[in-house]
Amino acid sequence: MKHYGRELQQTADGTYTLFIPEIDEHYHSVNGAITEANHVYIKEALLHRLYKGASLVIKDKEIIKVLEVGFGTGLNAFLTLINAIENNIRIEYVTLELYPLSQDIISKINYGAFVDERYSGLYMKLHESEWDKPVEIDKNFILTKKNIDLKDFISDPVFDVVYFDAFAPDKQPEMWNDEIYKKIVDSMAENGVMTTYCAKGVVRRGFRDAGLTMERIPGPPGKREMIRGSKI
Ligand SMILES: C[S@@+](CC[C@H](N)C(=O)[O-])C[C@H]1O[C@@H](n2cnc3c(N)ncnc32)[C@H](O)[C@@H]1O
Repeated sequence: MKHYGRELQQTADGTYTLFIPEIDEHYHSVNGAITEANHVYIKEALLHRLYKGASLVIKDKEIIKVLEVGFGTGLNAFLTLINAIENNIRIEYVTLELYPLSQDIISKINYGAFVDERYSGLYMKLHESEWDKPVEIDKNFILTKKNIDLKDFISDPVFDVVYFDAFAPDKQPEMWNDEIYKKIVDSMAENGVMTTYCAKGVVRRGFRDAGLTMERIPGPPGKREMIRGSKI
């Protein structure tokens, strides 16, 4: 996968994604990259964990820990950073990526151009930060990008929110099996929430058997359903 070419493609909401022809796979939904990320990860995972209705359910000064599987273009990290600033929440964000993208691709995809201009410059800041150490991108957001294989990641149960954003099971089956589901669940704190765009029954049952309470919920445009798991 490392040496595969990646093509820039525009999606239905005007934002771009990457396509890998060799495995016929996109990094995001062609029905809207930012729209999908905002729905699957921000609304249904991060904000679901932070709020009950209009009330914030986290303690004063609590630091929310987010784990992402697959940093890729950094879109989920970028939207999480913007939400941390706007909600004045402190987030420690750990993201795993085995195949980091080149700066050339990142500057072409430039999600900074699609958000409020107060935040535009932060997109490149995420990408220019060093790997494998915590970096303060903003006082509300500490980023650790780990250049490792998910298979080698081991964590204590500390994460409040997990974005499981691997390539699809038929394209990268080694990211979707019982060992991986257990690894994810073991990394989650009590009341932790995990979402993924993939709604397959076998995935839902896999996370359920690993210990999460699973829900099927409406997906982003073009996708009827997605799944969310909670560690109750
Ligand atoms: C669907 S894309 C993620 C999209 C990303 N969240 C974004 O917003 O651009 C899946 C990502 O998982 C990464 N990946 C693939 N195999 C991996 C592995 N074994 N460990 C960690 N990351 C991996 C890919 O390189 C790719 O960046």
